[in-house]
Amino acid sequence: MSLPTPTELSAAAEKLIRDRRAIRAFRPDPVPEETLRAIFTLAGAAPSNSNAQPWRVEVVSGAARERLADALRAAHAVNRTSVDFPYSEDMYAPVHRERRAAFGAGLYGALGIAPDDHAARAAYDEESLGFYGAPHAAFLFVTGDGGPRLAADVGAYLQTLLLAMTAYGVASCPQGLLSFYADTVRDQLGVTEGRLLVGVSFGYADPAAPVNRATAGRAALEEVTAFHR
Ligand SMILES: Cc1cc2nc3c(=O)[nH]c(=O)nc-3n(C[C@H](O)[C@H](O)[C@H](O)COP(=O)(O)O)c2cc1C
Repeated sequence: MSLPTPTELSAAAEKLIRDRRAIRAFRPDPVPEETLRAIFTLAGAAPSNSNAQPWRVEVVSGAARERLADALRAAHAVNRTSVDFPYSEDMYAPVHRERRAAFGAGLYGALGIAPDDHAARAAYDEESLGFYGAPHAAFLFVTGDGGPRLAADVGAYLQTLLLAMTAYGVASCPQGLLSFYADTVRDQLGVTEGRLLVGVSFGYADPAAPVNRATAGRAALEEVTAFHR
């Protein structure tokens, strides 16, 4: 097999990176074990500060997935939330708020939920605790002291994982929402180390679901990048 030329490689990278997007409706059929192992092996090639690799990944499928989804719904029903990484709406700058609003309008529009229908939005959030119907979910824990530098490494792992999934035809949705139930995830999976950063629901996309047609735009290059000479 000949090596790809630089042009072929950049075209492939452009396709891989742009083809990855958050998918929120899945077919129930599981990803074969061999493919799972290939994806998570590839994700482990992510870079980290001094190669510390401060991630611990817990993958649920089958009965374990069902048990966890039930436990998450039960925790949600009694408002039993717990976060390892504090969250506040105040962390967002005005420009972030604008981008979030535009994204929310697109997503809830695709779902047919009106912008001011808070009850329907809450119901959708609750439903998403079932991993959007995905047959698998991965939980990314930050080990060590779980501080921001180590969390950044796990962020790099997250994107590497999502791209590895895309390369193998596996769709995904990172779900910060799942990190609001850190103790539930820990208890169910017997995790004793690390802080829960994010969960990732994954499997094969349901191409017929309208929600999967929602796309999110991006800020222009000049808005977020400066080139200094
Ligand atoms: C750390 C992180 C947490 C996220 N949490 C959620 C979530 O809880 N629910 C959800 O539906 N999407 C979630 N997303 C997906 C984002 O909404 C999505 O990546 C963003 O809108 C850009 O769209 P795209 O991924 O389709 O390009 C999350 C993404 C990241 C990176």
